[in-house]
Amino acid sequence: MAQPIEARNISFEYETAAGPVLAVKDVSFSVGDAEFLCVLGPSGCGKTTILNMLAGFLTATRGEILIGSKPVTGQGQDRGVVFQDFAQLFPWRTARRNVEFGLEMRRVPEAERRDTALKFLQLVKLEKFADAYPHELSGGMQQRVAIARALAYNPGVLLMDEPFAALDAMTREEMQKLVTEVWQETRKTIVYVTHNVAEAVYLADQILVLAAHPGTVRAQLKLDLPRPRDPLSTEFVAMQREVLRHLTH
Ligand SMILES: Nc1ncnc2c1ncn2[C@@H]1O[C@H](COP(=O)(O)OP(=O)(O)OP(=O)(O)O)[C@@H](O)[C@H]1O
Ligand SMILES: [Mg+2]
Repeated sequence: MAQPIEARNISFEYETAAGPVLAVKDVSFSVGDAEFLCVLGPSGCGKTTILNMLAGFLTATRGEILIGSKPVTGQGQDRGVVFQDFAQLFPWRTARRNVEFGLEMRRVPEAERRDTALKFLQLVKLEKFADAYPHELSGGMQQRVAIARALAYNPGVLLMDEPFAALDAMTREEMQKLVTEVWQETRKTIVYVTHNVAEAVYLADQILVLAAHPGTVRAQLKLDLPRPRDPLSTEFVAMQREVLRHLTH
């Protein structure tokens, strides 16, 4: 079951040696059930901070977040998280055993764990690499394992923080296509952080455009382009221009 998300006037202040730093100010947005939201903005505008609040790793200094109409009070298995860092997998576990991790925590029996893990590895096209260790996989493959792991315990919401930012452009395009397929197959509510306009226009139903210092909402834009989207089409380019206009004004 996917779940809707609502953020109501959330702010976040970091405590630093030099005093408090207001990173996110009065941000509100909503994401419908099984919708794909991209959070877009320049470096330092608070994207990761917002994602960490959604994940429950950070608690909003003000405001509240509702997931499936329940307030977020901490981490939970209703949300799967994928980070930018390739080193998020357990290096001592194979791809399959990485995907099984959350299921082990839930004490799912071994045979069922194995089947579920293989199913999700297949979804991210890595079934042939089930027994490989992270260091034997490319960056893109490791990120696909991380996605499979986040999906394996069937959360309603998938949170992704620039998962493909460190990949080369060609691999990144392949990964974007794969994420669209995975989303269409699993119908999760997705919040995907990026600073790349073309990526947001390729992926999103809605784009939350942020301004920096402190992070505030510039616009929440709806995209009606049919999928699969063609980055070379006139509509795509026009939408990119529109998003850029909001980003830079
Ligand atoms: N641990 C921290 N302590 C103090 N200030 C922080 C901390 N983490 C982030 N900040 C500040 O909060 C602001 C938002 O940071 P955040 O990491 O959320 O931005 P971002 O949009 O994810 O940036 P990037 O695109 O570079 O990943 C930044 O201006 C940064 O200075
Ligand atoms: Mg970030």
